[in-house]
Amino acid sequence: TQAHTTMKILVIGSGGREHALAWKLAQSERVTQVYVAPGNGGTALDEERLENLPITDLPTLCQWAQDNAIALTVVGPEAPLAAGVVDMFRAAGLRIFGPTQAAAQLESSKAFSKAFMQRHGIPTAAFDTFTDAAAAHAYVEQLGAPIVIKADGLAAGKGVVVATTLQEAHAAVADMLEANTFGVKHNGQARVVIEEFLQGEEASFMAVCNGQDVVALATSQDHKRLLTGDLGPNTGGMGAYSPAPVVTAEVHARAMREVILPTLKGMEKDGTPYTGFLYAGLMVDNQGQIKTLEFNCRMGDPETQPIMMRLKSDLFDLLWAATDTPANPNAKLLQDIDLQWDRRVALGVVVAAHGYPANPRTGEPITELPANSEEVKVFHAGTKLLDGTLQSSGGRVLCVTALAESAKQAQAQAYEAVNQVKLAGMQYRSDIGYRALIPTLNTTD
Ligand code: AMP
Ligand code: GLY
Repeated sequence: TQAHTTMKILVIGSGGREHALAWKLAQSERVTQVYVAPGNGGTALDEERLENLPITDLPTLCQWAQDNAIALTVVGPEAPLAAGVVDMFRAAGLRIFGPTQAAAQLESSKAFSKAFMQRHGIPTAAFDTFTDAAAAHAYVEQLGAPIVIKADGLAAGKGVVVATTLQEAHAAVADMLEANTFGVKHNGQARVVIEEFLQGEEASFMAVCNGQDVVALATSQDHKRLLTGDLGPNTGGMGAYSPAPVVTAEVHARAMREVILPTLKGMEKDGTPYTGFLYAGLMVDNQGQIKTLEFNCRMGDPETQPIMMRLKSDLFDLLWAATDTPANPNAKLLQDIDLQWDRRVALGVVVAAHGYPANPRTGEPITELPANSEEVKVFHAGTKLLDGTLQSSGGRVLCVTALAESAKQAQAQAYEAVNQVKLAGMQYRSDIGYRALIPTLNTTD
């Protein structure tokens, strides 16, 4: 076994999620260095045990990890997972945390995940899958509006249309099936999932899985719409907070019993055991009943940022245990891990570029940032360090995250810090966390 003093970690990705994961991993006493490939301006600035690695192609990265004795690789985004990075690293004898390409289909194919949920009795919206446009249009008429149309395949959060009218629904079908706007093909044909519209409040439920066992992470909620008041287009997420008051102890137990555990069992039974972060997007109705909106095979972004702010336990220990082999007699296994969470509320506000999400303007200097402290941390996403100056390089630029006694205080602190950011044309929502401002007493974490 490897000496604990020389653990080098590789984090794949360049967003706010990866900055938060790398930052937390670097706090472990067992970790000497965290390489982030390719990383961003924030991971370049956080010099303590963090270093960027300018490699993006997977075979080169795999070779580099072998040559540099990387003890553990953690994958941030879905694209490398769907491309089979876990299979590739494992075949090279490398330890990596994430799902295989086959297991990653839970996110990469809506049709796969819906069929999986149906097969294993996991609660989800009623649906059907179509390649034939006439049949899809007929199903739209049958179900009526509101109705939800989803392109089958990774579409960077843009493949879902929540249609409030039949006209919009038919247009979405035409767009996705006839014009095949997303270019997603299944046996040469575009495919859509059409499903029942669900009412309720959304929550993000994430867990660490090793194929058989699972440890739930703190709950969270994000804000998908661009503008204050949940208006404007959908985005990757404009802010998030943890915990999510809607996930009461009962809802939590239900999510584990009805969604997470059956998913793990089902994946194992289907011959594609699930290892890695598992993210279930849940819709919680006013009776506390839950349905699964989607699975992601990764952590959420920006949910990871507040979740990592609240994690008191060692993230490296957790992921090391999750990738340990049961055959190792000294292994601390996933089921032996008991995570400690800060009781406080963490809340992150995304600062996005002018023009985001359609046409983000990049290359804008970021001339001022709030200071990082125990309570405030600026996680970077679309930033880069160019000759020592920080500039924007993507749509979501920063996630300014604060930790405080209440959601209200965390919100106030986060916005106070956001006000110190100087980036021309920046946009952000002014109401992140509004759903958490009504206090509930029985949240679970
Ligand atoms: P998805 O990528 O499947 O999670 O869909 C993106 C977003 O669309 C979700 O976060 C929800 O806000 C919304 N959505 C998806 N499916 C439904 C549904 N069946 N009913 C209501 N809203 C939905
Ligand atoms: N914030 C939602 C996601 O990461 O999918």
